[in-house]
Amino acid sequence: MQLLLLSLSFLTFLRITRGAPPSKIYGVNLGSWLVLEPWMLPNEWETMGGEQCGDCSTCIASEFALAAAYPDDVDERFAVHWSTWFTQDDVNNLKDAGINTVRLPLGYWIVEPLVNRITEHYPRGGIKYLAKGLDMLREAGIQVILDHHALPGVQVANQMFTGNCTSTPQFYTDYNYGRALIWTAVMTFISHLHPQFDSVFSIEAVNEPIMNATQTPGLGDFQKNFVRTVRAVEWLIGVDVPGCPSLEGTPNAENLDERLTQAFAVDIPGHFTAPVIEALKTSFPTLLYIAQELEWMIDFTACEGRQPITTKLVFTFSHFMDILWQYNDPPNPSDAAIGPQAYDHHLYYRLVRGVAAANPEAYLENLCNRNDIQRDVAAGNIPVWYGEFSLATQFNATDEFLRKWADAQKLMYIQSAGWLFWSFKIEKTSPYARQWSYFEGLERGYLTQDPSQLHDPDVCAPYRNTSMNSTASKRDNTIPPDLLRRAVRSHKLSKPVGIH
Ligand SMILES: *[C@@H]1O[C@H](CO)[C@@H](O)[C@H](O)[C@H]1NC(C)=O
Ligand SMILES: *[C@@H]1O[C@H](CO)[C@@H](O)[C@H](O)[C@H]1NC(C)=O
Ligand SMILES: *[C@@H]1O[C@H](CO)[C@@H](O)[C@H](O)[C@H]1NC(C)=O
Ligand SMILES: *[C@@H]1O[C@H](CO)[C@@H](O)[C@H](O)[C@H]1NC(C)=O
Ligand SMILES: *[C@@H]1O[C@H](CO)[C@@H](O)[C@H](O)[C@H]1NC(C)=O
Repeated sequence: MQLLLLSLSFLTFLRITRGAPPSKIYGVNLGSWLVLEPWMLPNEWETMGGEQCGDCSTCIASEFALAAAYPDDVDERFAVHWSTWFTQDDVNNLKDAGINTVRLPLGYWIVEPLVNRITEHYPRGGIKYLAKGLDMLREAGIQVILDHHALPGVQVANQMFTGNCTSTPQFYTDYNYGRALIWTAVMTFISHLHPQFDSVFSIEAVNEPIMNATQTPGLGDFQKNFVRTVRAVEWLIGVDVPGCPSLEGTPNAENLDERLTQAFAVDIPGHFTAPVIEALKTSFPTLLYIAQELEWMIDFTACEGRQPITTKLVFTFSHFMDILWQYNDPPNPSDAAIGPQAYDHHLYYRLVRGVAAANPEAYLENLCNRNDIQRDVAAGNIPVWYGEFSLATQFNATDEFLRKWADAQKLMYIQSAGWLFWSFKIEKTSPYARQWSYFEGLERGYLTQDPSQLHDPDVCAPYRNTSMNSTASKRDNTIPPDLLRRAVRSHKLSKPVGIH
């Protein structure tokens, strides 16, 4: 064990000297860029024609509602937002702040053919901005998690982040699970084949489903089909997938169907379920549609010489996508694993009732004694990271407290594979900016310019109860170096885009 640890750190050392990212995630979410949440930018939202209201289903307070209200020029309205909310300046600031990873929330509607234009209203054109943004991040050496944040049919009630505020979420049906699988197949194709998507190392299946597992029938099967879909796409395009024999010949745009037939003929028990087959078939024309939108000639040779999938993509599932997110006997996403997989834990003191009493002492005492990571590890949800957190509180926090609150969260969360703050920015004049914006937190000195640093490494010491076992499980402290390797792979970058 000692030897193994030693050689792992040696490898890590080697990788760092070659410009590899560190083995911890220091990240932010690119919130409100491609899935707009009006509360994060109230002035701009109003300029776009939006409104604010207490119950967001009753006014123009979601992308869906805005698109329904301005069907003729909604795309132009959003194009302005997409080109100004996240820019090269932001990327430079992220880099200066030592951010090595971003989580990028996406709606299903970015894959435009998935939208039923009669009943569903969303802006068009986002995919080009996504590609451009990913390119800027890649240039800056920042790796990316593509996060399916807003699901077809809506995954949870009355939340702006789902794209449509409604009291009746309908994601948990065969039809909508099917659409999410097509989205997944398309994103897997593009992440492997499109040069601008090169820094994508993870695709997340579902952000924050309903916590009550009784109300999410079929989610466990969806998780399994999600993984099978990803692996099937990889297999088709020539990536080695654990448990799959290699397919003959080199993939190209013409022989995908044939390869699919060839793949279906191989008996891998349980792999090609009906929903997976259906999603794969529909994903080809969908992919071609997107290629056209991006003016992209798909280059299937981009897969040649790729490392086995275990080094390329990780997948996180249901949000809190760790098992702790849901209650009432939830499915365990680790049961779905084929190849590498990761898990996402979200912890908001402000929003989740009953985490701790609403005062500074109770917050710190609770946080400094939490064992979420150990519980995840015990359930096989490893590696796990904190995909969202903020400095929000249920009480009026002083500057002094917010420095501590930032320190304590970073101290606790970095014991996982890392953390990602929600969100990188909030409109400057919003009262939410102080506790929800990473850039604002830096400016105000709550957060340190070097994300690995703390103002006070002993911030938790006064709050730890003595029986707490602080040496618990070192094993969960490191992200397997393989998981990050894709982010630094650069062999495609010098190649022009085009069919070879
Ligand atoms: C979107 O929300 C509206 C209003 O809350 C609701 O009537 C509609 O059914 C929802 N549509 C979808 C596709 O979720
Ligand atoms: C969970 O959902 C079920 C089915 O809708 C419901 O009967 C139950 O009361 C819910 N549990 C909680 C704690 O809300
Ligand atoms: C340790 O702290 C936690 C969180 O404050 C508390 O729930 C728990 O009862 C404490 N345990 C002991 C043994 O004091
Ligand atoms: C926080 O401060 C504001 C402004 O002083 C006040 O209106 C509000 O009631 C306070 N909130 C709490 C939870 O104390
Ligand atoms: C600390 O945790 C380790 C590993 O879980 C366990 O073996 C040890 O007994 C614990 N120590 C205390 C004081 O609880």
